[in-house]
Amino acid sequence: MKIDGTPYRTIFPDADGVSVQVIDQTRLPFAFELKRLATLDEAADAIRTMVVRGAPLIGVTAAYGLALALRADASDAGLDQAVATLTATRPTAINLRWALDRVAAHLRPLPPGQRAAHAYAEAGRIAEEDVASCRAIGEHGARLLAELAQAKGGRINVLTHCNAGWLATVDWGTALAPIYVAHDAGVPVHVFVDETRPRNQGAALTAFELNAHGVPHTVIADNAGGHLMQHGEIDACIVGSDRTTASGDVCNKIGTYLKALAARDNAVPFYAALPFSTIDWTLDDGVAGIPIEERAAREVTHLTGRLDGGGFATIQVVSPGSPVANPAFDVTPARLVTGLITERGVCPASAEGLLALYPERRRAA
Ligand code: MRU
Repeated sequence: MKIDGTPYRTIFPDADGVSVQVIDQTRLPFAFELKRLATLDEAADAIRTMVVRGAPLIGVTAAYGLALALRADASDAGLDQAVATLTATRPTAINLRWALDRVAAHLRPLPPGQRAAHAYAEAGRIAEEDVASCRAIGEHGARLLAELAQAKGGRINVLTHCNAGWLATVDWGTALAPIYVAHDAGVPVHVFVDETRPRNQGAALTAFELNAHGVPHTVIADNAGGHLMQHGEIDACIVGSDRTTASGDVCNKIGTYLKALAARDNAVPFYAALPFSTIDWTLDDGVAGIPIEERAAREVTHLTGRLDGGGFATIQVVSPGSPVANPAFDVTPARLVTGLITERGVCPASAEGLLALYPERRRAA
């Protein structure tokens, strides 16, 4: 995607061929800054502090982080230690573990001296595959949006939650890819953007992306979605996913489940868009089985933003001393999900639906 006419990816190899550059997402939407990651600790820290975030992007960053770690220590013990450090950064998005498993499996048979270079190349392949998957998700989802617009005979309104755009992936995004492809093809689409407390990824990142791409949008408070659906103002919801189970349960940013409930009550189609790397084939029951990240209370108690007169400030917004809970994700059961938009097409949110798209995953009877 382009910022001021310059194409960017969220992560890309540095000119030195060793380190990587990422967009510092903690500075958006007010400053567009790149950050260089040159060590395992820098990569792990970037994931932990959400300099990079979004399920597919943290997977790719972890893969590069492994390559950076192996430059310092390519022994078996070094590899195991680096995988453990990166795995521990964020627990919910399966893409992180998927990417580390893939790179580690590729490296283990290799002599230590070859591992760092191979890890770097494999991380690059994962990044390229992510771009291709997200682009394909965009094509499949855009067809759905075009059909909705045709049936309505005019502009459609899509509600999205959190940021599942190009900033959450390497490029294109998941939930926003269909919107970009449809918009670029002339389908009239307007996006309602949930602000997505506590970290406001919708207000800060999704709005920034849509602004940069010229997509009509309106930021709404998190609790406005149900009201808009009751009044016929939402034609479809599309969200991303941090982990989707083999039975089609969708784990995504906290608040997604409430939007799915409101969508069901108002007969609004509710889609999740995700690449294959987000599917956890080992789990069926997402509510029982997916570990939900609990983040710092300070994300709830404090807000950081730009002051009207310039400069930045962090202010407290919760009564001092009140206990705070901050679960970062929730699970929307498959029964509330109209369909899954993947790089292989759109399927029902069910085991059969997923297996029809990924027949190689059928377990031998
Ligand atoms: O905590 P974050 O910002 O990493 O959460 C991101 C989301 O919940 C996205 O919706 C999800 O990763 C899907 S992104 C392609």
